[in-house]
Amino acid sequence: MEVPRIDLVIFGATGLTGKHAVIQMAKLAKKYDIGSWGVAGRSRDKLENLKAEVAKRTGEDLSHVKVIVADIGDVASLHAMCAQTRLVVNCCGPYRMYGEPVVKAAVESKCHYIDVSGEPQFMELMQIRYDERAREAGVFVISACGWDSVPADMGVIFLKQNFKGTLNSVESYLSGYLPPDIAEESKERGVIGFGTWESIIYGMADHSQLAQLKKALFPEPLPQMKPEVKLKNLQKKDGSWYLPFPGADESVVYRTQRFLYQNKQERPVQFQAYFKGGSLGRSLLTICSGVVIFMMAKAEWTRKYLLNHPKYWSSGYVTKQGPTENVMNNTHFTFELVGKGWAEGANVDTMPPTKTVVAKVTGTNPAYGSAVAALLMSAVTILKERHNMPEIGGVMTPGSAFNNTNLVTRLNETQLKYEIVSS
Ligand SMILES: NC(=O)c1ccc[n+]([C@@H]2O[C@H](COP(=O)([O-])OP(=O)(O)OC[C@H]3O[C@@H](n4cnc5c(N)ncnc54)[C@H](OP(=O)(O)O)[C@@H]3O)[C@@H](O)[C@H]2O)c1
Repeated sequence: MEVPRIDLVIFGATGLTGKHAVIQMAKLAKKYDIGSWGVAGRSRDKLENLKAEVAKRTGEDLSHVKVIVADIGDVASLHAMCAQTRLVVNCCGPYRMYGEPVVKAAVESKCHYIDVSGEPQFMELMQIRYDERAREAGVFVISACGWDSVPADMGVIFLKQNFKGTLNSVESYLSGYLPPDIAEESKERGVIGFGTWESIIYGMADHSQLAQLKKALFPEPLPQMKPEVKLKNLQKKDGSWYLPFPGADESVVYRTQRFLYQNKQERPVQFQAYFKGGSLGRSLLTICSGVVIFMMAKAEWTRKYLLNHPKYWSSGYVTKQGPTENVMNNTHFTFELVGKGWAEGANVDTMPPTKTVVAKVTGTNPAYGSAVAALLMSAVTILKERHNMPEIGGVMTPGSAFNNTNLVTRLNETQLKYEIVSS
């Protein structure tokens, strides 16, 4: 007889992301009617200590929260973990190193899987290898449920749903803000955790794989929408210079638009992502250091300098210790999503785009606050709104899985806010 499964398990619970997920879950479980959940990792002692610490910090009784010992290197333990839950929330990265055994165990044990990966190579490879098996098992494997790429991917869906017409393109402009006293405090321990730095460096090392993966995943390109919107290398907007954003957003949004085109016959939206570089001098310096880091990430012997001395090579943004809670909680970000297209009834084949709608997605603590809020609201959405998701499962992006759900409404109840600011 099969034992009833618990609602979800947070795997990698003892890491920075995992711990924040456990704290937020402790606070949110009752509100979102999550009856049973657990924490998993490779050390029982660490998990028990974590539970005690979070119970003390939140004032919640966590005695019912299950502790599961599972190790990436022990396949049987991963199967045992996945077989006792409906959903595994994987916080154990870099995903290119640790992700696949968990995806495999989840699919084979018929449990849903989500993570906060921002690694396109990993995500696309998982789609190639597990999409069919996940469909057969009737489960979802949804990566990028964190800061990569819920703000951008669900932002494009949100903009499209509020556009009232035909949306041809979205350009995303990311900017960040630290109050001056917090910027001072961040000099000691930076603003980004080491796990994220590792993922970025290995992402650069494997960058050349992306084109091959895309070709294997999508042998036929999407039809080119007109007018075509091209990527700009350096552009000035509202007095600041913006550079192409090298994160996962473009890959994720592309996969979503592809899914909506193939499965719902929706017109694909072109998408480009930029981030704020500041003054022209600073932007040029960012480009130069980006090129140096990219080259160093390629060879093993130079890569180790990047990984061993993150503070030096990231200009103080990354430390092995990770940022203080105060710095994390006071790091603000905004994605300004500029959508262009045509009003209802316009002839989209003969007229240039005539309508612009701008949405903003704002939040604090991108890596461990907003990312974790996005991750947990994705989990709640799978558990509570399965009926509004695609009928069969598969390896998907947040936008393909959640476009017809109330995820954005749920996110607006957290620190991650979506709004239309002008039209
Ligand atoms: N895109 C986003 O929005 C976003 C935001 C935050 C983080 N991330 C990504 O999330 C990942 C984790 O980041 P982090 O900062 O939380 O890293 P972290 O603090 O280093 O945590 C890593 C976790 O993995 C666990 N782990 C390592 N090897 C394991 C093994 N063999 N078996 C079981 N567990 C193992 C660690 O367990 P121990 O405690 O036992 O060592 C720890 O719990 C990174 O890939 C990062 O890029 C993405």
